[in-house]
Amino acid sequence: MECLQVRGGSRLEGSLTVQGAKNSVLPILAASLLGEGVSVIRNCPALRDVAASVAILRHLGCRVRQEGDALVVDASPVDRCDVPEDLMREMRSSVLFLGAVLGRTGCAELCLPGGCELGPRPIDLHLKGLEAMGAEIRQEGSHLYGCTKGLRGCDVQLATPSVGATENLMLAACRARGTTQIRNAAREPEIVDLQQFLRAMGADVRGAGTGTVVVRGMTPLGDCEHTVLCDRIAAATYLAAAAAAGGDLEVRGVAYRQLSTVTGVFSEAGCRVSSGETSVRLRSEGRLRGVGPIHTAPYPGFPTDAQAPVMAALARSYGTTVFVENIFSSRYRHVRELRRLGADIRTEGRVAVVRGVPRLRGAAVRATDLRGGAGLIVAALAAHGESEITGLDHIDRGYEHIEGVLCALGAEIVRTER
Ligand code: EPU
Repeated sequence: MECLQVRGGSRLEGSLTVQGAKNSVLPILAASLLGEGVSVIRNCPALRDVAASVAILRHLGCRVRQEGDALVVDASPVDRCDVPEDLMREMRSSVLFLGAVLGRTGCAELCLPGGCELGPRPIDLHLKGLEAMGAEIRQEGSHLYGCTKGLRGCDVQLATPSVGATENLMLAACRARGTTQIRNAAREPEIVDLQQFLRAMGADVRGAGTGTVVVRGMTPLGDCEHTVLCDRIAAATYLAAAAAAGGDLEVRGVAYRQLSTVTGVFSEAGCRVSSGETSVRLRSEGRLRGVGPIHTAPYPGFPTDAQAPVMAALARSYGTTVFVENIFSSRYRHVRELRRLGADIRTEGRVAVVRGVPRLRGAAVRATDLRGGAGLIVAALAAHGESEITGLDHIDRGYEHIEGVLCALGAEIVRTER
């Protein structure tokens, strides 16, 4: 079994250009199916979830090749509408193939998606929206069978601004007759990136980044080129690592405003933060101050995906910080592992109370989900002594060569067999 051996205590100094965004590239790969053209998708991170998406595209008949950091998808030969169960279970975003495959072929056979266990993750909003567009979807156990004689545009009001449901409906709407309005849509930057990709293909999509996305369907979709947005959550994670370990780090590639809720926390905690148009610099002496309550919320609020890395940074701090997790009901599984490193954190329901301690100490810990795993690395970098982190499959789903990135900044991390 692979593990990361992390020797804590080194400051992190230098700069890095952050990887392409996992949560952008996955919907974009699904979208590449919609037309019959060739999509050149640049700045694709080398991640397990990306490999799984490529495997799904190939299974459906696409020709996919890698050219440097670009994936080139030729969707003309698509000849199937089913996604194998093992690939569906690899990740949550496999559910986006439902909208894309239905839109492209008129039928889809999938099963419920996998992904991090963060509490119940229903897909009712995806299904209701697709049904409102005229799809018939039958669920048998964990299997989903969808078919349509032709999707039609409609007005959909999402009960909650779900990222995945917004994306799924945007994909299907490109192949629906008439206009679709998605209200209470998610406003995350990754939705805007998907819109840009769809427009490059020839789709007529407007409003991404606001609460209403409007798609006029059935425009011809052809060849396109697109560069994937940089990953604001990976950026937040590396800033958290520098905040926790101490250092001077510049993260390049991410617009400051996409990170402002996270950098606001680090400023309040005593770090010096400055920004350029697409870069953020953070200087930290290592031990932070507790900050006012952190409530996770849909964009532009504090991102749930940054909760664990930021909590890990605040574990060694003066004072107390309260976290309220409002997006997922069970996103504190990293807390037990942080306690092994000496953190003093109590949770009750959606609330976690972090009483800062003067010192963390190295320990053997296990990542139980992607961002929680990243949080463990952050804490281990700030701890005295050596930590051993297992469960790397989770971390590798979302971070491209995380130990290489951190070692280049001065961290001591080795990936090894246990
Ligand atoms: N929800 C429903 N019904 C639905 C869909 C969602 O009730 O049909 C609920 C969920 O249970 C949750 C809330 O709505 O409580 C928000 O879920 P959302 O659909 O927005 O999340 P997602 O699309 O499943 C994406 C990211 C997550 C990120 C969330 C929130 C991808 C591939 N995943 O998930 O990323 O945490 O949005 O921002 O884009 C990660 O990268 O580690 C990760 C988990």
